[in-house]
Amino acid sequence: MLAPAFNRLPHPNPTADDVRAAAIADPAFGRVFTDHMVSIRYSDDKGWHDAQVMPRGPLAIDPATAVLHYAQEIFEGLKAYRLEDGSMALFRPEANAARFNASARRMAMAELPEEMFIAAVKEAVAADAHWFPPVDGGALYLRPFMFASEVFLGVKPASEYQFLVITSPVGNYFKSGAPAISLWVSEDYTRAAPGGTGAAKCGGNYASSLIAQREAIAKGHDQVVFLDAAEHRWIEELGGMNMFFVFDDGSIVTPPLTGTILPGITRDAIITLARDAGLTVREEPYAIDQWQADAESGRLTESFACGTAAVVTPVGKVTRGEASFTIGAGGPGQVTEMLKSKLVDIQRGRAEDPHGWVTRL
Ligand code: PLP
Ligand code: COI
Repeated sequence: MLAPAFNRLPHPNPTADDVRAAAIADPAFGRVFTDHMVSIRYSDDKGWHDAQVMPRGPLAIDPATAVLHYAQEIFEGLKAYRLEDGSMALFRPEANAARFNASARRMAMAELPEEMFIAAVKEAVAADAHWFPPVDGGALYLRPFMFASEVFLGVKPASEYQFLVITSPVGNYFKSGAPAISLWVSEDYTRAAPGGTGAAKCGGNYASSLIAQREAIAKGHDQVVFLDAAEHRWIEELGGMNMFFVFDDGSIVTPPLTGTILPGITRDAIITLARDAGLTVREEPYAIDQWQADAESGRLTESFACGTAAVVTPVGKVTRGEASFTIGAGGPGQVTEMLKSKLVDIQRGRAEDPHGWVTRL
């Protein structure tokens, strides 16, 4: 399908320079937004059409719009970086485009041609390239998403969708600034069951995880560890990050992609970088009891979580019910730091990019 040309409608009254500078000086995560958004519409009869770069603003939708009732919605998350030479880059946007369509298929939604997804993301960055936050770890976080925009109440896949990209200047995901995060193991709630939507990046997965996340925060932790739905035994992932476990023989384990966890792009990059560094990586189930036993015996030396928003974040402490265990010395470990530096150096254009992950803009 031919990509529609974008109709560019610059913001008539863009944010003043001093207001923008104040907003991006310490943006935290996902609270500051730029002036523009990208929108493309789909209908079964017209296909993809009406591509626009437009002023960011509220969407007027009918109360019977399908997404409000049956949650047919998917999203992606990727970052644009300002490199040291002043140019800009995206990290593996084609992987996000492919995963977006995998999510669309699972949710019975229209697929967006990958080149259109990437063109839309590039338009979003170009429209607001002066919004990069001048902070360590700063980036433009891009949130492409799509929802069922047809107005009807019957339960069936919609025949109309709206795809949008919004842009948020971000700093670190975890505001605590602590060297390592503290996790809470959810024994009551699971995130995804076999045959369900765990591998899709759909809003519903996050909606169902929030009660556990609230419980974790209320008990003073940063994130929830979800266990598998069938046995409540195997570690799956966090609410928005994949998990890695590092052992004293230098080997690494990460849960396998069996359809109940998100196939993280950072996860994939970390597996590749670890193998490049000569480490053995096993994608295999790892039990919660084993994690505790291995941490207590010292066989497990490090654990970390990873994702676009969180990058690579060391885990310092894990709590299950009344019991807690510490990972290593409770702070960032050597293998975690090494893998994080390798990843960030490629993303920021400071190291060679042997796998062709960086798309320069
Ligand atoms: N798992 C979940 C549930 C997520 O929301 C994310 C974030 O996107 C990840 C894992 C990590 O995925 P990625 O590395 O592609 O950002
Ligand atoms: C991301 O890392 O892009 C996510 O979507 C996860 C969310 C916790 C922000």
